Amino acid sequence: MSGFTETPKHVAIIMDGNGRWAERRGRPRIFGHVRGCARVRDIIREADRQGVKALTLYAFSSENWGRPSVEVSVLMRLLYKWLIRERREMMDKSIRLRAIGAVDRLPESVRKMLTESIGMSKDNTGLQLTLAVSYSGRDELTQVAQRLARRVAAGELAADDIGEHHFAEELSTAPVGDPDLLIRTSGEQRISNFLLWQMAYTELYFTDTMWPDFKPSDLRMAIDSFTRRQRRFGLTARQAEEARV
Ligand code: FPP
Repeated sequence: MSGFTETPKHVAIIMDGNGRWAERRGRPRIFGHVRGCARVRDIIREADRQGVKALTLYAFSSENWGRPSVEVSVLMRLLYKWLIRERREMMDKSIRLRAIGAVDRLPESVRKMLTESIGMSKDNTGLQLTLAVSYSGRDELTQVAQRLARRVAAGELAADDIGEHHFAEELSTAPVGDPDLLIRTSGEQRISNFLLWQMAYTELYFTDTMWPDFKPSDLRMAIDSFTRRQRRFGLTARQAEEARV
């Protein structure tokens, strides 16, 4: 059977398994994060090479603040250094950086660096790279509900007129839209509070590979799996095929 689907335009990744990768080697968990961080550049490059237009990476969830403080500090430090290290590549490759999540909870130095990189890359027209940091899908939906409720209270919008598009427009991912493909590494098969609204029709791809081992060829395999699937969006197979032409 030939493939039904084009290369995914928007790929989201839950970069999981850093801790277990390190523990299996008798090393501290933070060593896994260091190795995981080093993987990010290769995967961004490969996504770009494969014609992916938007890449959204789950770098730190709201729940991750509950980890041991040393681990949180290391992750923040890694993010900070990564932002500095990638500036040049971002500008050379015209990558546009955005962030979603409670950025105001980040340490000031990280927030400042992130804001600078976002500002610096704002006119870039290449790969649209979004980092989810201190992110929670439920939190995001709660905030959207609050904003819409405020508009109703202000008389700008009738409650009965609230439609899906109002939600979609208010989401932090509005500039890049919904992911076509979600990849989660490390063998876990759940979405862990990531992009809850946005993933209604996302194709899911789970691999046992731990994030520090996830190579460009693994990304190609995930994309290849996606291109062999038929996305039906609730239609019949025949309707979906007809809708493509
Ligand atoms: C999950 O592994 C990974 C994280 C919580 C952090 C992901 C962060 C990076 C890959 C580095 C920083 C990212 C960027 C974009 C610079 P885990 O610790 O939950 O692993 P485990 O499930 O094996 O414990």
